[in-house]
Amino acid sequence: MALPKLFRSSNKRKGQPAPDAAQKLRLALPDMFQQAAPASSSADLPRFSASAADQPNRRDDRFGAARMKLRNAYTPSQPVFDRRMFAGRLNVLKAAIRSIEDQRLHLVIYGERGIGKTSLLHMLASAAREARYIVVYSSCGAASNFDETFRAVASDIPLLFHSDYAPTTAEAETGSSLASLLPTRKVLPRQFGDLCTKLTGTRVLIILDEFDRAESLEFRRDLAELIKILSDRSVRVQLVIAGVAADLAELVEHIPSVRRNILAIPVPLMPAEEIGELVTNGERTSGITVTPSARDHIVAISAGSPYIASLLCHHAALDAIDDQRLDVLPSDVASALEQALGELGTRISKNTMAQVHRLVNDTGTDLLSLIASASLSGGGEFDAAAVEAKAGGATKAARCKSIVAELAAQQILLQERDDGFGKRYAFIEDAVPSYLWFLAQQQTFREEDVAPQRVRAR
Ligand SMILES: Nc1ncnc2c1ncn2[C@@H]1O[C@H](COP(=O)(O)OP(=O)(O)O)[C@@H](O)[C@H]1O
Ligand SMILES: [Mg+2]
Repeated sequence: MALPKLFRSSNKRKGQPAPDAAQKLRLALPDMFQQAAPASSSADLPRFSASAADQPNRRDDRFGAARMKLRNAYTPSQPVFDRRMFAGRLNVLKAAIRSIEDQRLHLVIYGERGIGKTSLLHMLASAAREARYIVVYSSCGAASNFDETFRAVASDIPLLFHSDYAPTTAEAETGSSLASLLPTRKVLPRQFGDLCTKLTGTRVLIILDEFDRAESLEFRRDLAELIKILSDRSVRVQLVIAGVAADLAELVEHIPSVRRNILAIPVPLMPAEEIGELVTNGERTSGITVTPSARDHIVAISAGSPYIASLLCHHAALDAIDDQRLDVLPSDVASALEQALGELGTRISKNTMAQVHRLVNDTGTDLLSLIASASLSGGGEFDAAAVEAKAGGATKAARCKSIVAELAAQQILLQERDDGFGKRYAFIEDAVPSYLWFLAQQQTFREEDVAPQRVRAR
């Protein structure tokens, strides 16, 4: 049996001159650390295009260099940290800063997954740090509780801002934090609130992201109590709570008593110009150009979602580079869409996929995409009557009604409520509306006769 390549000696070939020192060193290194050309049998296997030290494999490789720059240009799997990559959202950011600064309110920032909450929070945090706020960012998880979260927050606030500890005291000089003053047993909102009243010479912004993930009711109640304590005593500490929700009550239903101390800021879908800005920012960073028609497709398909825009740009630009080009064409966007569809498909159950494709075969994508886009723009929910009204004529409206009924019967749609104004529905699997929307968008490429790049290249 052949040994794995790593253990095989590579200097066993006979009749070759003795290796020099440099060669000896190279030979002593296992193959996996060498940049030699791969053996012919593995030449067709995909390879990493750059070293882990972020160097392209060849210095003159402009496509390798573009590929590396692209990693910072469109980051669909990460929020934006770099101001230069942050598009739009000026009004939301302005409203957040004003209410923190001028009204001393606590904020709740809510919206769909992927709408850009965390990216926005990073920009807010950096603006606050610029104004010398102490900013503590914490991302919640299912098991988050008050004690653990606020102990960690306290450990980021230096003791020298506590009025009882002048900067010259030994404790403050050793770099201690407020956490050193917390009791060893479970921290209660009142104790943390009391500590906050003692803060001077700074202001603190505590950002709790992904708050919807926290499952503990006690945590939510404790947080409500803390907001009440902080608001009653005009303390120099403000909270920013962010999470996935269709409305404020869904995210902070346990905080009704402190509503007047909170400003709720929904993060809406991005207008087309802001999606365009996102594309342009990435072009500037990567040196790759997106042609106007490719850009139009990206703006149309993303329908206001920065996540989808970023995902499409990322895949499309990689496809262009694979094809040895530095300009993104509509065919690259078509192939990016195909990949996005494939990825989304893995997040949908087999049964739902089968039903969805059967319906698409029976009725086409027009009405299904109308339903999907109503759901995507309505924070996950949609009003069946409003969608029927948009269907375009009585026959289509009736067809739309029967599709909704069928999807509900298949348990793909769930009837949320009938509040007297109409029936509201939501997709049970949250990838389904995006999937339907993408399928319909694929149709527009077919109509324009644009074949995906990777299909053409084969
Ligand atoms: N204002 C923005 N400018 C550029 N890209 C953005 C912006 N907002 C979000 N994105 C991109 O969208 C994706 C989702 O953003 P994120 O902030 O993680 O959303 P959320 O926290 O709401 O789930 C990320 O890939 C991010 O890079
Ligand atoms: Mg987030």
